[in-house]
Amino acid sequence: MKILVTGGAGFIGANFLNLLVPRHPEHTFVNADKLTYAANLASLAGIASAPNYRFTRVDIADAAAVDALFDEHQPELVVHFAAESHVDRSIAGPREFVRTNIEGTFNLLESARRIWGSGNGLFHHVSTDEVYGSLGDTGLFTETTRYDPSSPYSASKAASDHLVRAYHRTFKLPVKLTNCSNNYGPLQFPEKLIPLMIMNALDGKPLPVYGQGTNVRDWLYVIDHCEAIWTVVNRGAVGETYNIGGNNEVKNIDVVHTLCAVLAEQTGRSEESLRGLITYVKDRPGHDLRYAIDASKLRRELGWGPTETFDTGLRKTVRWYLEHQSWVADVRTGEYRKWIEQNYGNR
Ligand code: NAD
Ligand code: TYD
Repeated sequence: MKILVTGGAGFIGANFLNLLVPRHPEHTFVNADKLTYAANLASLAGIASAPNYRFTRVDIADAAAVDALFDEHQPELVVHFAAESHVDRSIAGPREFVRTNIEGTFNLLESARRIWGSGNGLFHHVSTDEVYGSLGDTGLFTETTRYDPSSPYSASKAASDHLVRAYHRTFKLPVKLTNCSNNYGPLQFPEKLIPLMIMNALDGKPLPVYGQGTNVRDWLYVIDHCEAIWTVVNRGAVGETYNIGGNNEVKNIDVVHTLCAVLAEQTGRSEESLRGLITYVKDRPGHDLRYAIDASKLRRELGWGPTETFDTGLRKTVRWYLEHQSWVADVRTGEYRKWIEQNYGNR
């Protein structure tokens, strides 16, 4: 089968390709990515010369380029990861989020409809639990929770989810959707909480915790997410949505404390001095209090379950960052550094 993976040079897409390209020599994987600041081709070094893998640089917001991509590769399956993905960036500059996440998804749907006609192919849309907005102290997001996005990022993902479902209802495009909780693991760009804290701690820089650090996220190891997507692609029902999550609700401050403990254990540094780097900073505007996923549909219908606990996943993640210093050095250059200085410099 010919599989088009969008955004495969980003965090989750690269983990997905690194997992599946060697496992499935019978499929061809075409990775179409614009190579924004968040992409890193070094993340794909292990599969770059695999006979069943190709890379092509494409901006999904460019309709003509997306049409040409479909004409050239004639994919039978699209796994759509490409997005602007960072909430803080969406607050600082929402335009790219509307362009890539909404218009880009629209362009892919239009090209898919054009080459597949009605009832052929499969469009798998990778989305987030942030479309559901914020939970209070109790309750879980299910697949029927009302959409209530808070940030320009989550609003743009919500819009893209609606477009994907509309193409199924209106044009009979075969689609599947997954909405997943916060991912962590190897290859994550260090603007997100966990890799940012690991890298700052290693550099002896402040660990900026928003507000009181009491916001809760439901963490899932990235490989568990990738396996869940592949499970849904292969065995999920067309037109359906599946929530993905690992039952790992943790307050941000507890994430940072645990990271300090694991870093101390793996580097020999003092846990107390690492904790001393924690700095409480101004809260994010519109900061969702709590996310928590009910993944029972996926578990019940398709038998998926996570393999990592937060403890095992976090240890693997810290070890990965410690053992991949050249990857870390790469992302510290260029756009990343500029962004960090402009947006994270004064905290
Ligand atoms: P990421 O920011 O690490 O990577 C995004 C990738 O998309 C990059 O390689 C980038 O170059 C590419 N891209 C951006 N704009 C593009 C464009 N216009 N055309 C082509 N490529 C473009 O993101 P991620 O964390 O890997 O997230 C991947 C997907 O998973 C996103 O759709 C995101 O909404 C979703 N998701 C992420 C999480 C998470 O915790 N990271 C959780 C649930 C869902
Ligand atoms: P983030 O990794 O940006 O993911 P999301 O906003 O998509 O959930 O943030 C995770 C949580 O960590 C969120 O509650 C905001 C918080 N946070 C901090 O406290 N400090 C930071 O420097 C960052 C980037 C996030």
